Amino acid sequence: MNKQKEEILNIDSLVVSKGDQLAIMGPSGSGKTTLLRLLSGLVLPASGTIQLLGEELTCKTEKERDEFRGRNIGMVFQEFQLFPAMTAVENVLVQQLANSSLDKKYAKEKAVSLLRELGLEKRLQNRVMQLSRGEQQRVAIARALLNNPQILLVDEPTSNLDIKTGIHIMNQIQDISRTNGTTLITVTHDVHIANGFTRMITMEEINKSYSGVLKEVLR
Ligand SMILES: Nc1ncnc2c1ncn2[C@@H]1O[C@H](COP(=O)(O)OP(=O)(O)OP(=O)(O)O)[C@@H](O)[C@H]1O
Ligand SMILES: [Mg+2]
Repeated sequence: MNKQKEEILNIDSLVVSKGDQLAIMGPSGSGKTTLLRLLSGLVLPASGTIQLLGEELTCKTEKERDEFRGRNIGMVFQEFQLFPAMTAVENVLVQQLANSSLDKKYAKEKAVSLLRELGLEKRLQNRVMQLSRGEQQRVAIARALLNNPQILLVDEPTSNLDIKTGIHIMNQIQDISRTNGTTLITVTHDVHIANGFTRMITMEEINKSYSGVLKEVLR
């Protein structure tokens, strides 16, 4: 990815079944965010293939990948990527732009009900910049869930949150995913969070490139 063409991710194979709840653990710099960016089609691997929902992501153009993501994938970014001056509801509805098939009135009702479900009923019309980090995190989660995605990718759901709030938010994501049959992939460095998942793997196990770096350091 970078100018020196340094290899940061080298994965032989990673298979996730439909409806699985997978936690991927690893320290800072082990390639967690990069992996989620690949899985969402935001970037392409230098070699190899990525198959999602029976389709080959790596054969698609950028436009096709954007469209595929809008239809099938919900993403909660590490830095949320919300619009600070817009309200909580408006931020969730931004996702509607990615999926024009969603009826406007239905989308608004769904946005409000998701935010309520996530405990933000008193913050619906607050600008995001006035919200706490935990509240902003939940707005980002509601946005990712608006389209009933088949796959939900979550990056560090609990960074900067206290353990109790973090686990509570993670439980909510898991419950909603289970109800909707959504495949959930979360990356985290927090063992408390990873414990609640049906399956857990570490970046050290799957990223050959990262263990190489570790060996260098340890030598
Ligand atoms: N766009 C990019 N160009 C070049 N190098 C990058 C890019 N994005 C990430 N990297 C490098 O790739 C490695 C993995 O980064 P990544 O963000 O995936 O780590 P991470 O596991 O998510 O870390 P953290 O827990 O700190 O979020 C790092 O060494 C980083 O410097
Ligand atoms: Mg990261």
